[in-house]
Amino acid sequence: MKDQSLFQFMDEVGETGPGYRVGIVGATGIIGKTLIGILHQRRFPVGDLHLYASPESEGRWIDTPFGQKCIERLNKARPPHLQLVFMAAGAAVAREWGWRFAHRGAVVIDKSSYFRDKSYAPLVIPEVNPESIREHRGIIANPNCTTIPLVAALKPLHEAFGLAGFTAVSFQSVSGSGGNGMLTLARELEDINAEATTFPHRIAHNVIPWIGSPAGGHSSEEKKMINEPRKILRLPRLPIRVTAVRVPIMIGHSLALHASFRKPVSVEKARKALESMPGVTVKDDPADGLYPTPLAAAGRDEVLVGRIRRDRGWHGLALWISADNLRKGAALNAVQIAEMLITNQAAGDSGVNTIPG
Ligand SMILES: NC(=O)c1ccc[n+]([C@@H]2O[C@H](COP(=O)([O-])OP(=O)(O)OC[C@H]3O[C@@H](n4cnc5c(N)ncnc54)[C@H](OP(=O)(O)O)[C@@H]3O)[C@@H](O)[C@H]2O)c1
Repeated sequence: MKDQSLFQFMDEVGETGPGYRVGIVGATGIIGKTLIGILHQRRFPVGDLHLYASPESEGRWIDTPFGQKCIERLNKARPPHLQLVFMAAGAAVAREWGWRFAHRGAVVIDKSSYFRDKSYAPLVIPEVNPESIREHRGIIANPNCTTIPLVAALKPLHEAFGLAGFTAVSFQSVSGSGGNGMLTLARELEDINAEATTFPHRIAHNVIPWIGSPAGGHSSEEKKMINEPRKILRLPRLPIRVTAVRVPIMIGHSLALHASFRKPVSVEKARKALESMPGVTVKDDPADGLYPTPLAAAGRDEVLVGRIRRDRGWHGLALWISADNLRKGAALNAVQIAEMLITNQAAGDSGVNTIPG
């Protein structure tokens, strides 16, 4: 499926349907808002839309493309009966609420790290491992915003040459840390004396080689960049070396990737493989100033790949990747997962991989 939106799918099967009862937890956050916009843009069949956030936001009205909506309270005594729940409110909320929603019949697509390493929760990038969605038992995990572009680029190269390992350095924008990250950068750019708040050091005019908390010699963000590609590509012992770096830009994560393969590689074959990968766009003519940048990726749905070149080492290739961390890195990927559930359901694919009625 070459980035087929549900809208195109509906046109093909001639179906509109009444729409689903959809919930968004974390609807006031940067990912929640992006998600609402993408659901509308892709004409996702939303019937009832229920929005949730922290208790402080309860009762607040917000404008959405689906009309004005009131932020509701998550009520443990009476968990809402929804069909599809997008969770974008962090790991603690996912732990507390994920199974509550699933036990009430919803399929939950969670964007936090909480379910990603759980064997019962598939970790899905629709263009990369669509088959794994069939393994879900009510909860599907959305990979990290750096993992998604990284693995989207690695998958076609793995198919062509057999991945033997990789080294990656990430350049991650402040929006990866939520709405507060963006406010912090804006404040620090205005006030040279502003104290560091959201990040461990001032981020304006700086880069910080540390994202998250300590995790066995790595930062927790680096651990995700190691564990998640292994799970998605089903290569549990793949050698991976990473450094995750926070950079002072608003939107767009980038990666410098150096990968080695089992079979001989060629730049031409690599380019062809990447060009045929759904959701990936190759921009690669450095002599003409053509290569991906986070600014060019911001607001776009595709993962941009360029600087494709031979690398030293065993059948080595080097490349540069940029993608919008809020869209393909988070909200868009989640919506594509939901679209795939509906496509499977409409295709008569029975079992647990459907959105319950
Ligand atoms: N930003 C990215 O690039 C990115 C990428 C991939 C994954 N993610 C993940 O997506 C999730 C959301 O991130 P974000 O960037 O959107 O963060 P954010 O802008 O800080 O938004 C956090 C959202 O969670 C809500 N929330 C906080 N505590 C809650 C509670 N106890 N119950 C219900 N809702 C609660 C907040 O509501 P209030 O407004 O009421 O506080 C807000 O809507 C996180 O798990 C993050 O790791 C983010």
